[in-house]
Amino acid sequence: MIEKLRIQGGVRLKGEVAVSGGKNAAVAIIPAALLAHSPCTIENLPDIDDVHVLIDMLRWLGAGVEFQDGVMQIDPTTVDKYQPPYDLSSRMRASYYLAPVLLGLFGCAEVPMPGGCDIGARPIDQTIKGMTALGADVRVERGVLYVSTMGLSGSEVYLDMPSVGATVNTMLTAVSARGNTIIYNGAKEPHIVDLANFLNSMGARIKGAGTDVIRVMGGRPLHGSNYAVIPDQIETGTLMIAAAATGGDVVITGAIPTHMEALSAKLLEMGVYVGEDDDRIHIRSDGNLRAVNIKTQVYPGFPTDLQQPMAALLCTANGSSTITETIFENRFRYLEELKRMGADIRVFGRTAVVDGIDRLIAAPVTATDLRAGASMIVAGLMAEGITDIYGVNYILRGYDGIDRKLRSLGAKVEMVLRG
Ligand code: EPZ
Repeated sequence: MIEKLRIQGGVRLKGEVAVSGGKNAAVAIIPAALLAHSPCTIENLPDIDDVHVLIDMLRWLGAGVEFQDGVMQIDPTTVDKYQPPYDLSSRMRASYYLAPVLLGLFGCAEVPMPGGCDIGARPIDQTIKGMTALGADVRVERGVLYVSTMGLSGSEVYLDMPSVGATVNTMLTAVSARGNTIIYNGAKEPHIVDLANFLNSMGARIKGAGTDVIRVMGGRPLHGSNYAVIPDQIETGTLMIAAAATGGDVVITGAIPTHMEALSAKLLEMGVYVGEDDDRIHIRSDGNLRAVNIKTQVYPGFPTDLQQPMAALLCTANGSSTITETIFENRFRYLEELKRMGADIRVFGRTAVVDGIDRLIAAPVTATDLRAGASMIVAGLMAEGITDIYGVNYILRGYDGIDRKLRSLGAKVEMVLRG
């Protein structure tokens, strides 16, 4: 059992590191594979806890699943249940993506919902709106999402906000609905486009993913396919920030530079060198960085998931920076942990003001969610001394071998087992 992640700060990261496949793409694509009438092979999957929870859930539902070296073979033909168990569903947010899939297969599904987490209440009213519009009866009772239908029919859905989860769930419902669906104001994140591309590789007909209007020609038979998920946008960004934070010189391979434009622009504004090739990003910094202002937005704006590691980087920038979080209502709690390391941060509602100091000082800190963990890692790499990060289970949910990757760049990082 891992107790903590221990980091000896002050090492400039140097070298080349390959980014893993995308967590938020994987957790949408793996459930979608159950809609095929024959086996699927999915490649470039990250070896993270969220993927292992999904494997356990798919096996529990009756599917055949093999997973090795980032390649997953899924045989959906033996799925015979529509109620994933609470103990598995409650361990990750995206387990509710199984609801539209099982609804399409069985005409009903009962999926326990995870509660809100440290970043906000995370309601699902837009998912309910999208699935209801397509003919599903949807209700949430005592933490369980009950969905059923007498038949799904395509329709027009206008989402009140470009919710990632609602766009995924409406798309996954629409492919099983008779007739055409148009989703207006859907999310445009790279993992939405990846899901649409995967479904199209199975024989679906989805156009416009990544734009304001997504069109789904529903009711088409879906067959198995071979597919490789996109690289992880947020892991790529976390590694870029860690390289800049340590005054390092790092090449990140297997990345998609166009997914990173909002972050790259901010790093350039800070005085970081950002070089781009077709599948790699080069980050070089002397550690002497200018303060900037960050405002999180839906894609292609600055990702809310990078707000947290970015805050650590801003702690020692020259001057006063601001971070405005517009996506989640409670995503600043981790700043208290940075303040334990000496950071000078004040919060005014949805805006945090970060006044640059010379150096962070190591202290024991706790990750309160996945990306807070990323923030603690960046801070630990920057800080003077040895930083112990607790709550490692959050980090393992979304970062594949992050300690191994950082060590390959020269960092002094180790997972410490409980004595
Ligand atoms: C996805 O969460 C990601 N998770 C999150 O990444 C990411 O932060 C988020 O999108 C935004 O990009 C996965 O993809 C598994 P939303 P999701 O629905 O789908 C409100 C990580 O670290 N909202 O776009 O839950 C909601 O409360 C995780 O990898 C409603 O009000 O995000 C939030 O404030 C953290 N009603 C905002 O919209 C709804 O019906 C964005 O939520 C849906 C959402």
